[in-house]
Amino acid sequence: MGLKFYIETFGCQMNVYDSELVASILKTAGYEQSLNIHKAEILFVNTCAIREKAVERVINKMHQYAHLKVKKGKVKVAGILGCIPQYSSDRLKKELPFIDILSGPDNYDKLPQMINDCLKSKKMQENLVLDKEQNYEDILPFTENKHSVFVTVMRGCNNYCSYCVVPYVRGRERSRSVKSILTEVKNAVSNGVTEVNLLGQNVNSYNSEGMNFAQLLNKVSEVEGLKRLRFATSHPKDISDELIQVMAENPKVCRHLHLPFQAGSNDVLKLMNRGYTREDYLSKIEKIRKLIPDIAITTDIIVGFPDESDEDFEQTLDVMRRSGFDNSFMFIYSERELTHAKKNFKDNVPKKVKAERQKRVIELQKSLSIEQIGSDAGKTKEVLIESVSKKRKNELMGRTEQNRIVIFERTNDVAEGDYVNVLITRAEGLSLFGKIVNNGEGSK
Ligand code: SAH
Ligand code: SF4
Ligand code: F3S
Repeated sequence: MGLKFYIETFGCQMNVYDSELVASILKTAGYEQSLNIHKAEILFVNTCAIREKAVERVINKMHQYAHLKVKKGKVKVAGILGCIPQYSSDRLKKELPFIDILSGPDNYDKLPQMINDCLKSKKMQENLVLDKEQNYEDILPFTENKHSVFVTVMRGCNNYCSYCVVPYVRGRERSRSVKSILTEVKNAVSNGVTEVNLLGQNVNSYNSEGMNFAQLLNKVSEVEGLKRLRFATSHPKDISDELIQVMAENPKVCRHLHLPFQAGSNDVLKLMNRGYTREDYLSKIEKIRKLIPDIAITTDIIVGFPDESDEDFEQTLDVMRRSGFDNSFMFIYSERELTHAKKNFKDNVPKKVKAERQKRVIELQKSLSIEQIGSDAGKTKEVLIESVSKKRKNELMGRTEQNRIVIFERTNDVAEGDYVNVLITRAEGLSLFGKIVNNGEGSK
């Protein structure tokens, strides 16, 4: 038996996917995965650098884990993977001197060799080369007992939004071949997966051998046995009419769109280098809602960007009210090294004002969520069962096509991975509540 490894994942869905790639690479090399950190001999943490808080969280976590290696000695190799090593390896080396491996997101295929070298030489191994060709084309990620999986279709980003570190830590944008995406989806479906979530920082710029993202969606949807197809993230400047059409017409493509707008003021959008105006954004939303009336739209918002005035901020609230988001991820601006904003603008909105603005967007979103989600009351929705509810063991949790969470009573004849029809009775917070009406093999 090979040494046991344990991976903990922070950050976005792409990191979740990458950890599955790492698990696959290590298993192929003869290591054994453990889901219990106390049994692990190799400890990896896959990390995110998007905001300062994300970095602090990982460093604190690693301080907590230090004793597993330093005192107990059970862990022989401790490594930090992903975006933080790529962002700031010096800080990690200084603050966490017991770390043995630092690997950026483009070097996971070298991990088995790095582990070997580390065990042999007892020296720290580091590989932070950004490889613009790296797509892990031929590696099937390791997932277990899943009904819904992520499939990364492109890596990196070329957009250089002025606040964002992703282009620096993930490198240039590149699309994976259609063939390898299809192989992966078919393999997942043959293992019982019915829902696939295609991932990229800006999926609308997918392009491989002349195939664009809308066409890729149609192609993937042809995989027999696949029921639901999702994707993230769309960039408002690149979302095409063709894509909206595919969402409207292809029954496997779920009617949920994550379309981050970041800020409602044209001045701020310009400083952010987002490449669209509030008017562009609102007219896209209008068009999408017209063609797909039952769509759910979610978004990302940043408050407290440099020079954001009270008037600018009011415009953010205004876009929220006009767009009717199901949900928003609402962030306080965090200055990042390497970025255009850090080099050229002053982080001049006081902390208190930032916090106040965040509180206000959260409050507004709460009322918008209830309005949007509550519109499902009285309807029967098809739900993919994900798990037993966290709060109550006699309840199940699943999601509708719109990605809305539904909680309902557990019955003996249904299980995780099943599709059931649920009559929605009420909405509370971000969840819908209902009861199974007939255990239909729904069409989707
Ligand atoms: N590629 C995606 C987003 C990736 S990062 C897109 O363009 O939509 C996820 C979210 O984190 C962003 O949408 C943004 O809202 C937020 N974010 C990125 N950099 C940030 C920063 N420096 N401070 C605060 N929030 C940030
Ligand atoms: Fe960052 Fe902008 Fe790229 Fe999204 S599109 S990852 S926010 S640079
Ligand atoms: Fe974070 Fe890296 Fe994703 S910085 S948001 S884990 S691409």
